Amino acid sequence: MSETTLPTGVALTAIDEQFREDPYPILRSIQAATRVLHDDELGRYVYTSHDDVKAILRDKDLWSDPRKAKPGTFTREFLGNADEEPSMLLMDEPDHRRLRMLVSKPFTPAAVQRWRAQIEATVEAVLDRIDTEEFDLIAQFAGPVPTIVIARMLGIDESKVDSFKQWSDTSVRIAFNPFSTPEELAAGEKAGAALNDFFAGEIEARRSNLGDDLISDMLRAEEEGETLSVQEIISQCNLLLIAGNVTTTDLIGNGVKALLDNPDQLAKLRAEPGLIENAVEEMLRFDSPVTNSGRIANRTIDIGGCPVHEGESLSTSLAAANHDPAVYPDPDKFDIEREDTHHQAFGGGRHLCLGAHLARLEAQVAILGLLNRYPVLEHSERGHVFASVPSFRGMTEFWVRGENQQ
Ligand code: HEM
Repeated sequence: MSETTLPTGVALTAIDEQFREDPYPILRSIQAATRVLHDDELGRYVYTSHDDVKAILRDKDLWSDPRKAKPGTFTREFLGNADEEPSMLLMDEPDHRRLRMLVSKPFTPAAVQRWRAQIEATVEAVLDRIDTEEFDLIAQFAGPVPTIVIARMLGIDESKVDSFKQWSDTSVRIAFNPFSTPEELAAGEKAGAALNDFFAGEIEARRSNLGDDLISDMLRAEEEGETLSVQEIISQCNLLLIAGNVTTTDLIGNGVKALLDNPDQLAKLRAEPGLIENAVEEMLRFDSPVTNSGRIANRTIDIGGCPVHEGESLSTSLAAANHDPAVYPDPDKFDIEREDTHHQAFGGGRHLCLGAHLARLEAQVAILGLLNRYPVLEHSERGHVFASVPSFRGMTEFWVRGENQQ
């Protein structure tokens, strides 16, 4: 394929049916043709090689704040809403570091391990509610688990979990989607407003009754004598929901699909559950829930002889980088014993996913819990539906059939 016929714009997003069903051959064709693809339609430069993606994400000088991007670029047009307080994902130093430090303590590997028993109990309780042999793994399992876990971490009452899942799913559909219809935008804004009100209420309630939860931690936290503003706390809560819920659901869904598509790997994991940690890393590499991240050029960047100037959008394809044949032998093979499963599914550098350890633990516990409960688990004829949300890869429905052990 010559560079002029390479797909750009919508054709490089999950809105396009072919890309949605299987993005990897399309990304491979770009990798083979060029190091930098100028996507005129969306105003961004797309990078697909493992090493280029890594170098961009780890470059500490590049920006993330959409307000610094030039008008007409992807980041400015689709991620920059000047009216809203940005979350740390879209902040630069020093604010980024300040906010990240304030919320990072509960997400260290050791802190996350303290949630193991809670996560195990949540997984079992969610499995207990499934009462048919054929079920939608997303609606009945992979969706509820991360929502209940993060709700507990934020100290939110279980009775309110369903509404906040609905609001957060609706907001995420527009948050990273440059092609939202006016109806989707309106629904997303309404859901976003509902979430904001909800969190404002939760914060107010905590003021007089601080507890052992993340919202109370943020209210307590003081960095260099500075407290977080209510709007900043709301933004971080939104980010934890949006960044953490759909992505972990997608990891569990995509991971179980990879196992059912590869019965030899499923059998191996059943026989040797100790492989779960490596298996989850391979799931993250093989079918990454977040397909794209990005930065903004703070200077002229020259990668592959294509200079890109200050204020331009750099879009890093994590999905392509994780399937780069220059780095991974047989990259399209799902192999839970792969020796080198390092991947960039959690991005990299300053903005490296804060919830990575939590997501890993949830997926490990959830998948082993599911396999234990279902000694037989297979695809159902009702199939699956991939979501059409750009930058994310996951399913809205995934029907399976299992023989429950209990
Ligand atoms: C499988 C699940 C997940 C995936 C694939 C994922 C992926 C990512 C990616 C790609 C980034 C951007 C990194 C960059 O730009 O370099 C990110 C950032 C972030 N993620 Fe995750 N994430 C997941 C789960 C979670 C969870 C469970 C939470 C928290 C509850 C979370 C919280 C965050 C936060 C706060 C950031 C922004 C960090 C910063 O800007 O410093 N994520 N994640």
